[in-house]
Amino acid sequence: QERAHLEEHIAHYPEKRAGAIYCLYFMQDKYGYITKPSLNLVSELTDLSTTQLDELITFYTLLRRRPVGRNVMRVCDSISCHTRGAKKVLEAAENATGKALGEIANDGSITVLPSICLGLCDRAPAALINDDRVEGELTPERMRMILTELAE
Ligand code: FES
Repeated sequence: QERAHLEEHIAHYPEKRAGAIYCLYFMQDKYGYITKPSLNLVSELTDLSTTQLDELITFYTLLRRRPVGRNVMRVCDSISCHTRGAKKVLEAAENATGKALGEIANDGSITVLPSICLGLCDRAPAALINDDRVEGELTPERMRMILTELAE
């Protein structure tokens, strides 16, 4: 069924490979991350090797090859946020979850990921939760509060 959907989508492009990003996002939406079978399917449908797809996934920071928690928080560590304390905010997240960045908190509630600029520099240090909730002017204390809230 997903194969049929992706084949239909890819058919709109002059070259199959042009549909790769769509296919990867589609599979990620479905499974939470891009699993090995998903990667193989997209490879087969787009004529791109799994190595080429892995390179694409590395380039597009919204794509991921590893499972994540129920929530995903991307915390910007680019220059504006960095100079306004992003490092301390990220450390607070690691301490509160007991996990390194990119790993799933023990209770499964969240994965905190470092991110390149989110376009929220005027609210630095900034974060984006589940791709739609913006948090700005973050402090370590505010980070701990958010993590507590998301764990409930
Ligand atoms: Fe952090 Fe732009 S530098 S949002």
